[in-house]
Amino acid sequence: MTAQVGVAAAQPNALGTRILELTDSLAQWSESPRALTCTYLTNAHRAVAGEIARLMSNIGLETRIDAVGNVVGRYRSHSPAAKSVIVGSHYDTVANAGKYDGRLGIVTAIAVAEQLAAAGMALPFHLDIIAFSEEEGVRFSSAYIGSSVVAGRFDRGELLRRDAKGVTMEEAMRTAGLDPANIASAARRKDDIAAYLEVHIEQGPVLFESDLPVGVVTAIAGNSRFGVSIEGVAGHAGTVPMAYRHDAAAAAAEVVLCVEQRCSRTGLVGTVGRLAVPDGAPNVVPGRCDLTIDVRSGVDADRRAATKDILADMDDIGKKRGVTIKTTSLLDAAAVQCSPRLQGLFAASVERAGLPVFRLPSGAGHDAVMFDGFTEIGMLFVRCGNGGVSHSPLETVTASDCDYAARILMDVLETLPPR
Ligand code: GLV
Ligand code: MN
Ligand code: MN
Repeated sequence: MTAQVGVAAAQPNALGTRILELTDSLAQWSESPRALTCTYLTNAHRAVAGEIARLMSNIGLETRIDAVGNVVGRYRSHSPAAKSVIVGSHYDTVANAGKYDGRLGIVTAIAVAEQLAAAGMALPFHLDIIAFSEEEGVRFSSAYIGSSVVAGRFDRGELLRRDAKGVTMEEAMRTAGLDPANIASAARRKDDIAAYLEVHIEQGPVLFESDLPVGVVTAIAGNSRFGVSIEGVAGHAGTVPMAYRHDAAAAAAEVVLCVEQRCSRTGLVGTVGRLAVPDGAPNVVPGRCDLTIDVRSGVDADRRAATKDILADMDDIGKKRGVTIKTTSLLDAAAVQCSPRLQGLFAASVERAGLPVFRLPSGAGHDAVMFDGFTEIGMLFVRCGNGGVSHSPLETVTASDCDYAARILMDVLETLPPR
């Protein structure tokens, strides 16, 4: 690895320490004073975009913010006709999030580019670091907004989606000073891209339990998501006898258990992550209940069979209880394989870093999914501390593990042949 220069060479874990410093700094903006929450196009989100752009410009990257809020920084190749290697991840968060999901990948790429720039090292491709504006699907129940735009897969119908306050995505973009008319121009041309790489915190316990700092990702599980709205009949909690009720929340409880039971088979996971009784009160039989269902599997046929069974069971629950159950598909992402060639390059770099090579699939979704069929995908996971807890403020990483990840990413960039 020729780029072990400057501060990285001078101090142990200097790159890892820099990465933690940067993730701490990005965590200062939140929608909540008590927790880290940074959802699409809120003030906190815009502030984080500005800070990422500032960090990128400061190290000499050609920096811009595109029509959907992706922050793009280019470390230009000396060869003008070169293709680009995209290294990306997202800067939005779930509510009450950890500091590393998504952002770790962005700041690791920035820390590496900082080293490459300090060393004056030329690459045979443009290095395009992209901080994707939205991956989690929290504000508009629409995931992968940023990466779908770059991969040319964005459906403009999504602009009509509304947040909990009734604001459409399109209105939110205009309020943030973005112009939805420019979305198509933010898409990259397939022929210009040589590879997509992403470093991400594992968000699970496998590396932690295996006592390993990093792992090479083999595949990303497929994911189906549904919004479900159950309409029953509201009534007085004291006067409507149990046999006469059409309780939307009781029907939802059956749906939750149905998802749990159907997905308890090997290789599947299923979650009802949102469950709300709008205008609910202690003395009102719930007339309506809204919920979300998320089903994942590495095997698409298993995921599809499970969602089919769950939808059929919901039909039965609706009929039995005299409630109407409407479902809307929010996501249908097939399982994605990481490129064997890029897995091999990551594995070789892991070995050169003096670590055992460990391969594992991802149960979580990542921006990489949007680049399936667009370019080759390669991903590296970093050990998640605290037993692997993520989507939680307890999410943690160590400077030493981040340092390994940064050095491995740098080594992969140095050894990646131009295409
Ligand atoms: C993203 O974090 C997801 O897998 O839902
Ligand atoms: Mn996440
Ligand atoms: Mn993530």
